[in-house]
Amino acid sequence: MRRKLAAGNWKMNGTQVSLAELAAMQGMSKGNVEPLICPPATLIYAAAGLKTGVTIGAQDCHAGENGAHTGDLSAMMLADAGAAYVITGHSERRQDHGETDGDVLAKTEAAWAAGLKVILCIGESEAQREDGSTLEVLATQLKGSVPEGATGSNLVIAYEPIWAIGTGKVPTVQQITEVHRFLRTEIASRFGDDIAGAMRLLYGGSVKASNAAEIFAVEDVDGALVGGASLKATDFMPIVSAL
Ligand code: G3H
Repeated sequence: MRRKLAAGNWKMNGTQVSLAELAAMQGMSKGNVEPLICPPATLIYAAAGLKTGVTIGAQDCHAGENGAHTGDLSAMMLADAGAAYVITGHSERRQDHGETDGDVLAKTEAAWAAGLKVILCIGESEAQREDGSTLEVLATQLKGSVPEGATGSNLVIAYEPIWAIGTGKVPTVQQITEVHRFLRTEIASRFGDDIAGAMRLLYGGSVKASNAAEIFAVEDVDGALVGGASLKATDFMPIVSAL
């Protein structure tokens, strides 16, 4: 059975005082649900040190091991600071930093080499959704950004329609069902049924307490990647409870 994953991405939000929110999330971890918070890199070490039972992750990594890359952080550094996961391919990285599928693939491989699990994000734009190319776009992103060697334990795929991120707009249950079923089939055709059956598929984009249960009821949804509603314990905990 796939362990559910409730992942919070704090994005560029949070200072030392925000650790109180994480501390308030203590005790969320329950049998089949793994809560995860990806704070800004400046908070990873302190967050991991809190030992709240909430797994700590990073939001991005460099594809290299070390070297002259001012301002960047390698996967090994993030693991050393206490991260167990890293997000790759978030649409904000793709948009703000021009990251390509090839970059995402290289970062994912680097993360695995450092022992990190990866949450790899894919998703269509509003224009792509409207012109009917969603599944084609997702298949291309999967093909170009998921490295050989993916397994149910080293990779999580997050489907995040760009138009649903931070907008309050959420795809219909039918749309989420169609996409997640498609993703599992695509993964099975490349990596086999066992790996596809073990790999967790998250939905992300305007998840909140009021819509979480409906989204989590979709058969191929194994959790969520939550942005805004992960910043406060009082918002995030009901989402985790809905899993
Ligand atoms: O990484 C999280 C997603 O981009 C979703 O963000 O929950 O604020 O829409 P959101």
